Amino acid sequence: MSVEALLNTQISSGRVALAARVALSQCSPDTECPIYLEALDQALEDEPPPYDTSVYADIYEKAALSGRWMAVSLITNAEREGDGAKRLWSLAACSPEPTVQHQLKCHAVDESRHALLYLALLDLTFPGAADPAFRTDLNRLSPKFALKHDLYPVPGSPYAKKATIDDFLQMNIAEIRTTIHHIMQRPAISMHCSPDAHTKVASIQNSLLRDELKHVAYTAVLIEQIARELPRERVNALFRKRVGDFNRITYSELGGTGLFDCSVACCARNPSCRATSQEHVVPATSNFAAPGLPVLN
Ligand SMILES: [Fe+2]
Ligand SMILES: [Fe+2]
Repeated sequence: MSVEALLNTQISSGRVALAARVALSQCSPDTECPIYLEALDQALEDEPPPYDTSVYADIYEKAALSGRWMAVSLITNAEREGDGAKRLWSLAACSPEPTVQHQLKCHAVDESRHALLYLALLDLTFPGAADPAFRTDLNRLSPKFALKHDLYPVPGSPYAKKATIDDFLQMNIAEIRTTIHHIMQRPAISMHCSPDAHTKVASIQNSLLRDELKHVAYTAVLIEQIARELPRERVNALFRKRVGDFNRITYSELGGTGLFDCSVACCARNPSCRATSQEHVVPATSNFAAPGLPVLN
């Protein structure tokens, strides 16, 4: 199953199940994950995700016509990636199993880099849109983790704990959702960027997609390994619950910020959102994005 199958599919629904299968076939081609795939399919049937519908894709496409919306969305993506990196760094620090710890550390380093890649997309697509001081501040959205750095639990993080199957399920669903957002974002960005930036933009987007599929695949494999030791009904019920939780987060984002990936401040306000962290590197994007960006159309 090729990545092109995912990028070129004309259908806007059914992409969640497709993304999981493409990720596994690309990144873990020799690993069968029957328990994971069955639980995913059942959860999608019981709790159909709003982000797996043509209505959602249409709302995104219309919102992304606005340059200002697109620019703020890229900054929110950078913020989320940086926040995710810190969660993963804490989970990795507290993981007793060396292989899993290394996987989580690599994942944290990827997300830390992604925060900077989204800012690079902002620079390439909207050159000069952010004033210089604000743009410099944005670099702090990435914790700039590297493999050579020693792990430590991020102070105040609720993720300073050993990762469980529940954590891997939530990570897997979040990575699939990020992949779906990424697929919608690709053509939306190309509508705003100049032709001479297209090659660089596409290269960054390809690297982001490659990494997100890698994250979907390794979490799927970990879920499969842990699930083999658990009652099947328990795995299915937990998968269903977490898909439902992400559906509620998605509806809440659509009704609130309309950004398709809520800010850290939203999570802090909303108990149904992701677990909150007490530690923020910079003020929430929604609080400081507007003054730094001139009015784009
Ligand atoms: Fe990412
Ligand atoms: Fe990711």
